[in-house]
Amino acid sequence: MSKRKHKLENEKLFSQIEQSSESTSDDFSETNHSDILISDESLANSLELSGLLRKPARRELPRMKKFRFQLLHEWILANVDPCRVADIGGGKGLLSYLLQQSGWSSTVIDPVHQELPNKYKDLIQDRQVRIAESERVPRIDEVFASEMAMNFDLLVAVHAHGCNLQLIDAAAQHNCAFVILPCCVIGEPLLPPPGVHWIQFVVDYAIKQGFEIEPFRLNFKGQNIGVYAKRWSS
Ligand SMILES: C[S@@+](CC[C@H](N)C(=O)[O-])C[C@H]1O[C@@H](n2cnc3c(N)ncnc32)[C@H](O)[C@@H]1O
Repeated sequence: MSKRKHKLENEKLFSQIEQSSESTSDDFSETNHSDILISDESLANSLELSGLLRKPARRELPRMKKFRFQLLHEWILANVDPCRVADIGGGKGLLSYLLQQSGWSSTVIDPVHQELPNKYKDLIQDRQVRIAESERVPRIDEVFASEMAMNFDLLVAVHAHGCNLQLIDAAAQHNCAFVILPCCVIGEPLLPPPGVHWIQFVVDYAIKQGFEIEPFRLNFKGQNIGVYAKRWSS
């Protein structure tokens, strides 16, 4: 199936999925997270992000947040060629597991060792899938260090604290692409100036480092904006 067809089919599928009442062990509430959403006005004023407003609004599904890894996994499959992924701040490693199931190589880099969840919801098949206790994904149980990027092609950070700007620096240094879903600003070396949203700051920072930016939105309520970036040369 072509990438475009795959993308369209998944968009259609995800927009049809009804709220699920089933709970999963990767419920986002476990992380006690708060989002400071970027306003539509800030999006409209942003050269890079205003396109997100023009996209046809898809129904946002509040409970989809707990499916963020499944949604991002599908987005990555539809938009990026298979490559070696570093799943930075990857927590339990569900994104890496899903990528691995799709034949990709993905390694979690996170100082806090966590086991894979024992199940997840397959959104395409609309069913719960068990993950055997024996299943593993490659993990480096350490804080992300820039030199680790040399072994990867794509650096991914989903709501990863404290390493967003470091990730961009490392991607620039080692010629990697990256996908970031930024949320709170915790432990970063720089802060956005007053009036500038963190996402815009991250975008500006990446552009200064020579990256071409492709923002995207996943289909859940909350901080659902992601930034895919490649070097102009790649
Ligand atoms: C809010 S959690 C997000 C986890 C997962 N990506 C998710 O969306 O559920 C932030 C994660 O970043 C990890 N982390 C914090 N500082 C890090 C660092 N310097 N390098 C790598 N991981 C880090 C934490 O251990 C934690 O698992």
